[in-house]
Amino acid sequence: MENEPLLMLPGPVPMPERVRYAMMQQAMNHRSAAFGAVYADCVKTLKTTFGTTNDLSILSGSGTAAMEAAVANFGKGKQIASLVNGKFGDRLCKIGALYGTSHEIASEWGTPLNLDLLAENLENGAEVVTLVHNETSAGIKNPAAEVGKLTRKHDALFIMDGITSIGGDLVEADRWGVDVAMVGSQKCLAAPAGLAAISVSERAWERIADQRPFYLDLAAYRKNAAKTPMETPYTPAVPLFLALREACAIVEEEGLTHRIARHTRMADAVRAAVKAWGLTLFPTLDQYHAYSNTATAVSIPDGMTDDDLRGPVKKMGIIIAGGQDHLKGKIFRIGTMGAVSAPEILATLAAVQYALKKHGLEVGDGVGAAAEVLG
Ligand SMILES: Cc1ncc(COP(=O)(O)O)c(C=O)c1O
Repeated sequence: MENEPLLMLPGPVPMPERVRYAMMQQAMNHRSAAFGAVYADCVKTLKTTFGTTNDLSILSGSGTAAMEAAVANFGKGKQIASLVNGKFGDRLCKIGALYGTSHEIASEWGTPLNLDLLAENLENGAEVVTLVHNETSAGIKNPAAEVGKLTRKHDALFIMDGITSIGGDLVEADRWGVDVAMVGSQKCLAAPAGLAAISVSERAWERIADQRPFYLDLAAYRKNAAKTPMETPYTPAVPLFLALREACAIVEEEGLTHRIARHTRMADAVRAAVKAWGLTLFPTLDQYHAYSNTATAVSIPDGMTDDDLRGPVKKMGIIIAGGQDHLKGKIFRIGTMGAVSAPEILATLAAVQYALKKHGLEVGDGVGAAAEVLG
């Protein structure tokens, strides 16, 4: 029997056995105490991972559903300042243009955001700010706390995509002044794809749009979540909720602080390997920006194609990500999300090191450098 490939992507990520088995249950009435308890368990843990005491709802849909819900409910008809330094910032900006007036504050993908221009936009009346905390497409961590400070100073609403940071890196939504935050189930939580959670602050509820989408009307989610037992407005993806509850139980057992430290250590190991190989991490940073701890983006060496790099790795049963859009062929990305631990990291780095050497590059001992971090 062929082994399953090892997914070292920035989502989806391999799911622990307990999480997979949790989905294999008979159908459950979603208007019941049993489902209400599942929903409540998930919400309790997720609030911790978001760093929030705000309302939190779980949508049956991927991360993008939550992005659209955020903008449609709180950005409708508004002036929206959209910070963009990668694909997902760009996506939020495009959604903003559908529902309000989007002012793109663009930087090259993987380079620092222009916070001065953000301040200018806010002075000129921007009412909503959108930010991707962990820009997966470019491996850069954006300065959410700084953006939150600026946004609050001008009394605007702060919508933050935490889709690939929440549950794997430190997020303090309340302390940072985030009004609306989102996470995707298939990322750091290591649950199946198909659910997204969204938190909403009191000041955001006060400014919710009068005209809202039907399926993604967050006021309806809030109303139903306030019932005893908790409910969703429409039939939820119950098997995914069951799996998410198990994934949340694992987060609780590990402890969030430990989980974040583990993610950081795994990313540190990948970065140490990149350095030892003599390759270049793709993002350029300033004092406010950092490398992502859940997705490391590396420039593909000159003369090497995406296939030269990722082909041999795939042949060994390990799937890493390439670049997206104009970064196709320019970078490769290794996810360090979810249940990831030393064996997967070392195997992945060994496969990448093999591909680099196979191409004729004389690279240093990246695997050894990573082992030093992990040992
Ligand atoms: C930062 C970020 N935001 C949003 C998304 C979109 O999430 P989904 O594919 O679950 O819709 C992704 C997916 O990779 C992401 O990395």
